[in-house]
Amino acid sequence: MVSGLFHRLRTAFPLLLLLFSLAAPEPASAQQKLPNVVILATGGTIAGTGASSTTTVGYSAAKVGVEALIEAVPELRTVANVKGEQIFQIASENMNDAYWLQLAKRVNALLAGSDVDGIVITHGTDTIEETAYFLNLVVKSHKPVVIVGAMRPSTAISADGPINLYNAVILAGSPDAVGKGVLVCLNDQINGARDVTKTNTSTLDTFRTPELGLLGYMQDNRPHFYRQSTRRHTADTEFDVSGLDRLPRVDIVYGYANMDPTALNAFVAAGAKGIIHAGVGDGSLAAPVRPALSAARSQGVIIVRSSRVGNGIIARNGEANDDDLDFVASDTLNPQKARILLMLALTRTSDTKDIQRMFYTY
Ligand code: SIN
Repeated sequence: MVSGLFHRLRTAFPLLLLLFSLAAPEPASAQQKLPNVVILATGGTIAGTGASSTTTVGYSAAKVGVEALIEAVPELRTVANVKGEQIFQIASENMNDAYWLQLAKRVNALLAGSDVDGIVITHGTDTIEETAYFLNLVVKSHKPVVIVGAMRPSTAISADGPINLYNAVILAGSPDAVGKGVLVCLNDQINGARDVTKTNTSTLDTFRTPELGLLGYMQDNRPHFYRQSTRRHTADTEFDVSGLDRLPRVDIVYGYANMDPTALNAFVAAGAKGIIHAGVGDGSLAAPVRPALSAARSQGVIIVRSSRVGNGIIARNGEANDDDLDFVASDTLNPQKARILLMLALTRTSDTKDIQRMFYTY
């Protein structure tokens, strides 16, 4: 009877070994092969909670902490060695220069370490495109930085946060994402920081790069890239936030029919160092506003002509004679991104020719 038991154990041994190896934790060497990804959590809808599972609007953003976000997606552990850090917890309409500087400095400090391969930033979608472009200009590393959000709060049926976070962590740990600049990853799509914009108040496919196109897709647990930005970014820019504790004030003046210079004059009086004029069409200047813009320029304020249209190049010396007025054309940057580039440009120079060069470089 005892020998029968031994016989059964001997024949079962290979199977037991196989089961043991499947159930046992991965050996250290296998874990080390996974990329090291830090998740910096900043709030937003991805960390939001609603009153019920059907609440997809009117919920509270920025409620769930980073550890709970990570625990909600156990699959993350199979694609990266993940660490979380709650850098702040805000709805992204409250993003400001101080948070940007804090975030950029932390990203740079983490990426300088050889133990970090990539960074994921969880963020509210309302200003994702601004934070992404800011970091695209000031991160001093070619390692991947991926910004992710969600359009539905964590408590909703079919919340998009978990799959978006999973894809973002894979992307941040992927060698394919190295050197591509800051990436925005939601809804299985990868967009570049410079050109992505939020296009819909509530749908999951809100992030688009109109006309110029997305960079690639997340599918089958890996990124698939098809294009990349031609503009300089991250480690190849001239901007450095390491010694900065504030950014120059730049405001946006919106163009519309029957416009007058009231808002412009108020911004100048408030101390604006730069104005983005989000003009109609190709950045046109209404007759009642043009003299006020000129007067502001004479006082040293930098004027950048952008457009409220959302696509296309602002033709330098097109709808206004920028050479005579000493204005800058925003190229294809939308007003909110032109504002970021002008703020950073003003940390380096107030020469309009140099600033124009920057708008054609970044
Ligand atoms: C926010 O931007 O913080 C709220 C909206 C969102 O994340 O979708």
